[in-house]
Amino acid sequence: MNILVTGGAGYIGSHTCIALLNAGYSVIIADNFTNCNRETVNKIVDITKKKLHFHEVDVTNERSINEIFKRYKLDGVMHFAGHKAIGESLEKPLNYYYNNVVSTLVLAKACLKYNVNRFIFSSSATVYGDNKTPFVETMTLLPTTNPYGETKAMSERILVDIANANPQLQISILRYFNPVGAHESGLIGETPNGIPNNLMPYVTQVAKGKLKRLKVFGNDYATVDGTGVRDYIHVLDLADGHVAAFQNTSSGARIFNLGTGKGTSVLELINAFEKANGIKIPYEITNRRSGDIASCYADVSKAKRELDWEAKRDIVSMCKDSWRFEQNLKENTF
Ligand code: WQD
Repeated sequence: MNILVTGGAGYIGSHTCIALLNAGYSVIIADNFTNCNRETVNKIVDITKKKLHFHEVDVTNERSINEIFKRYKLDGVMHFAGHKAIGESLEKPLNYYYNNVVSTLVLAKACLKYNVNRFIFSSSATVYGDNKTPFVETMTLLPTTNPYGETKAMSERILVDIANANPQLQISILRYFNPVGAHESGLIGETPNGIPNNLMPYVTQVAKGKLKRLKVFGNDYATVDGTGVRDYIHVLDLADGHVAAFQNTSSGARIFNLGTGKGTSVLELINAFEKANGIKIPYEITNRRSGDIASCYADVSKAKRELDWEAKRDIVSMCKDSWRFEQNLKENTF
């Protein structure tokens, strides 16, 4: 079966391509490399020893996307391509709405035109807003306070409405919690541009000496130790969740949390990283980061029940795999 993977050279997309190829699917990557490295495509081939097709395209470009749908007999689409930095989305809202929402519309339209019924959408726990944890799929979503989160909530609503009008469609909307870690080979992983926004890549760069110390954004939240609690999930578990969702062919649009169901605070993650890798992570407590919520973790029962999927890897392996990738990174090779 042929699967079109948009953003397949990105962090989560590339790990999912590996899982798909290892599961015997054929993969066609569509990526414009704005936020990743074309070298990753070769690394996917190196790791799996399997061939794949790839096209350098902008997924908002209807003509280019139709060319791909015409050229391959596609059995499904996994849509990862999208801008994903909250802070940047506040500075460039138009760019985020256009890129993230138009790409979803272009792909959904092509799926209807070329009778491609399976669609997996990369969503985010951000859509829950400051709801009470654990987050459950049936919850009413609250405003997300940032354009990035709104593009995900909007795309979800678009896909649900399209599925309601086209019962042949089998759409899975996957809400990621906090993806971290890397493939055990250390060949691919998260390569943020510039100073990392996210916690784990910041920690690995402190461990490597590229950054002096970690700023812990606030320790006065109502959590176990006052620091922010998140549901970190290994990117390989996330990739497996996509394969499980693709294999589930019930019709309509179904929404699933992809998390571990466990919350880990910033200080607990630092501690786990230090123990897993035998490295001290210097840090200082600073003010809260605006827009952060205290606690975010998933109720994971639905994915377990309906997809027979659950995360298997623990925070120690997330820390080990993240660190191995960082160590392998040569300066500016990504
Ligand atoms: C985690 C915790 C911070 C950096 C975001 C997006 C989400 C998804 C993942 C796209 C928080 C604290 C962080 C630092 C810190 N992205 N922190 N010092 O904000 O939970 O989620 O990235 O889908 O949509 O919202 O992730 O890693 O930035 O923060 O103390 O230098 O670490 O306050 O408690 P976040 P994060």
